[in-house]
Amino acid sequence: MIISDRLFNFVGSNQGSWKVLETKTIIGASLEVVTHLEILPGMIEPNCQWNLKGMVSNERYVTRSEKVELVVKQEALGRPTSLYGALIPIRKNPAWWALTQDERRQIFEESSNHIRIGLKFLPAIARKLHHCRDLEEHQPFDFLTWFEFSKADSGAFDDLLAALRASPEWKFIDREVEIRVEKMEKY
Ligand code: HEM
Repeated sequence: MIISDRLFNFVGSNQGSWKVLETKTIIGASLEVVTHLEILPGMIEPNCQWNLKGMVSNERYVTRSEKVELVVKQEALGRPTSLYGALIPIRKNPAWWALTQDERRQIFEESSNHIRIGLKFLPAIARKLHHCRDLEEHQPFDFLTWFEFSKADSGAFDDLLAALRASPEWKFIDREVEIRVEKMEKY
């Protein structure tokens, strides 16, 4: 059994620290609609509608100069003003995974400007990326992307999604679900 501090569970059920406001299926199969989301570390099997697992991993694409810019601008999760969030699980198609690393980087940044676009939304949007492909147990998505922001920045987050979804990178995405959440007061 893998027990790792890099493993996280995004648990959908009728309880949890985040209340689900909206579940939108962008492409591919939907996820069962739940009322709450909880994020829990470690190897667990909670009683729930679904438990999506992902690992924080090393970076694949970012260059040193991009990393310097990101580190200067980005803020951590858990800010007291970040009462809104989004879990966006994503799967990329076999054509993407058949590419080489340099071909993927070309699409990700040189053609799609993923980082260039994302940087414009820092520090308003805090983010964390989890990888799912290399886990022992088969996962329905390749990535679990998690974002936190204030109510005032919810519109900016919509603009960010629109810009990324219009990019060539998104043509390789065959399953995407957007789960928008609000932090529960008692937590
Ligand atoms: C808040 C602004 C954002 C910034 C600054 C940002 C930045 C980045 C960076 C630097 C990476 C590459 C990490 C690496 O080197 O491996 C990355 C990967 C990724 N991001 Fe974003 N991102 C942002 C928003 C988003 C949004 C809104 C989504 C989803 C709707 C998203 C989905 C992804 C995915 C799926 C990957 C993994 C791509 C792959 O490995 O094929 N990002 N992001």
